[in-house]
Amino acid sequence: MGIHSELRVVRHMAFPRVTGATQAERMESLYRPTAHVYDAFREHRLLHGRRDLVGMLPTAPGSHLVDMGAGTGNNIEYLGERRRGECRRITLVDVSASMLDVARRRVERSGWDNVETVLASATDYRPHEQADIVMFSYALTMMPDWFAAVDHAHAILRPGGTIAVCDFYVSRKHPADGVRHAAWRRHLWPAWFSHNNVFLSPDHLPYLRARFSTVQVRERLAPVPYLPARVPYYLFIGTKD
Ligand SMILES: C[S@@+](CC[C@H](N)C(=O)[O-])C[C@H]1O[C@@H](n2cnc3c(N)ncnc32)[C@H](O)[C@@H]1O
Repeated sequence: MGIHSELRVVRHMAFPRVTGATQAERMESLYRPTAHVYDAFREHRLLHGRRDLVGMLPTAPGSHLVDMGAGTGNNIEYLGERRRGECRRITLVDVSASMLDVARRRVERSGWDNVETVLASATDYRPHEQADIVMFSYALTMMPDWFAAVDHAHAILRPGGTIAVCDFYVSRKHPADGVRHAAWRRHLWPAWFSHNNVFLSPDHLPYLRARFSTVQVRERLAPVPYLPARVPYYLFIGTKD
């Protein structure tokens, strides 16, 4: 990534201009200026764990995989050609037309004939048949109705289907399971990220655990560009009973 593009992304993240009356308008206003350089900054430096999450997806011949808040569709690269090709259908859902435009061009360029892009909200998109896997990668924290998005994923999954999530978060002060974050982490990161319309929550993981049967949870820390502190993120794999 060139220095000019990097400065542009950093400036945009430091002084985001988020406007609009609907979530789709807000996301479009946030992403339109930098959608074309989104991958270069986020892929290796900010959004960690996505390759691992995709590696953990139980894809099988004939699977329908839905990526909610798919953005530029970069996660499909991590599937690799064999696993991508054996899926019956892969659906990339997003409310931002600019992000989805980058995804659509990636699909065309790569000749992925089983991958479609759908401009829709993660609370509205409905497949013709129940899906095998629904994934959210750094998307739930941007959805005001994240609980409705999780409920909707549950509704569109077949029994035994898989939900896969990776995102930033903070722990509860007294978590029932897993890692407990220090007070400074629990206060700093939600305040820091909310500036960019990213809302870290102590409730995402407990809600996912309550809605689905837990298969795997990994809780980790990741570096943040230009900052000396590391931010917590998790990977969650669960199944619908
Ligand atoms: C941080 S990006 C992550 C993109 C991609 N999943 C990734 O891992 O690079 C969040 C994406 O969620 C999308 N988004 C936000 N709210 C949404 C909603 N309610 N329904 C669908 N997509 C949404 C945004 O437009 C954006 O493309």
